[in-house]
Amino acid sequence: MTIKEKVLIVGAGSIGRRHAKIFSKHLKIDIADISYSRIKLSNKLFKVNDSYFDYKKAIVENNYKFIAICTPPHLHLEIAKLSVKHNNNLFIEKPLGINCKGWKKIAIECKKKKLINYVAYCHRHISYFYRAKKMIDANKIGKILHANMRWGSYLPDWHPWEKYYNFYMAKKEQGGGALLDESHGIDLIRYLIGEIIEVSAFVGKISDLKITSDDIAILNLKTNKNSYIQINFDLLARFPRNNLEIVGTKGTIIIDRVDHYLKIFSVKNKSWKKFKYKKDDFLKMYKQQAFYFMDCINKRKRTIIDINDALKTQSIIDSAFLSSKIKRNVKIK
Ligand SMILES: NC(=O)c1ccc[n+]([C@@H]2O[C@H](COP(=O)([O-])OP(=O)(O)OC[C@H]3O[C@@H](n4cnc5c(N)ncnc54)[C@H](O)[C@@H]3O)[C@@H](O)[C@H]2O)c1
Repeated sequence: MTIKEKVLIVGAGSIGRRHAKIFSKHLKIDIADISYSRIKLSNKLFKVNDSYFDYKKAIVENNYKFIAICTPPHLHLEIAKLSVKHNNNLFIEKPLGINCKGWKKIAIECKKKKLINYVAYCHRHISYFYRAKKMIDANKIGKILHANMRWGSYLPDWHPWEKYYNFYMAKKEQGGGALLDESHGIDLIRYLIGEIIEVSAFVGKISDLKITSDDIAILNLKTNKNSYIQINFDLLARFPRNNLEIVGTKGTIIIDRVDHYLKIFSVKNKSWKKFKYKKDDFLKMYKQQAFYFMDCINKRKRTIIDINDALKTQSIIDSAFLSSKIKRNVKIK
């Protein structure tokens, strides 16, 4: 990819700026954001080619190598529609959207127009999850019987520069909430363990946070390989937790994304082996993801997490909301 090629980043908030910092070292970047202060900050932090308040104007007036959609989730679909109409490859922040509606059509359009598309479930690019995947695929822990995922932190601690109740995460209609946001965890279960075929969930608000979105999501999942998974996501834990325990017939893997380690217990050796990582190994995922995506574009290669793949995660999210509402198990179609 030459430096002359230009990309558009829609949404210059916290993740948009993180991507802009990486992409601006390799490509010309345009920024679109409705907020003057966000545009001003981006221009201060990186070399920005052009800035727009209206992403539609940017898309209509330019040819982009790709468009990175980094707005709150309720806008992902309409931005993707216009981007595809104007033949742009897509880098879409997770979650895909607020639900599955409309995305199949976008995936079909992308296929027809041969547009590369990627949904940024970036945890797959963390080296310790990658190592876990290799261990599981090499049958190091045998058949996976069950897994537990705990993923939580206190929403008011996330963005110290703004009131948490003004942040989109506090607003259900904008796609905030524990389930949609922490759906990284669902993507990881699919990546490491298998496809989900059944969901039973409680999704709700149990704290006194001033939010309309959910602050807790407790999911029971069954996979196509008969593994049982429990997930507990929240936005209210006063100390961050991010831990996954996978129990197999030949061993156990525990991954901790707060203390950055992976350990594996072997039934045969009756001992643990621990691999320690640094916070930097975790943060590198953004750079690794960006390079992976640029490589897919250069080689015209389908990405590992395209819209069709992300739709599988999104349908588990939709089914969890439904299960909580109807208080019954939901089978994934
Ligand atoms: N993959 C990750 O690790 C990761 C981390 C954080 C956020 N995210 C995802 O990124 C997305 C954004 O999250 P965030 O934390 O950066 O939120 P944010 O609130 O910090 O940023 C969103 C930005 O979008 C802008 N925006 C709103 N409406 C717009 C419009 N119509 N046109 C252009 N810009 C508009 C806002 O002004 C804001 O600057 C969400 O989907 C979130 O889930 C992913």
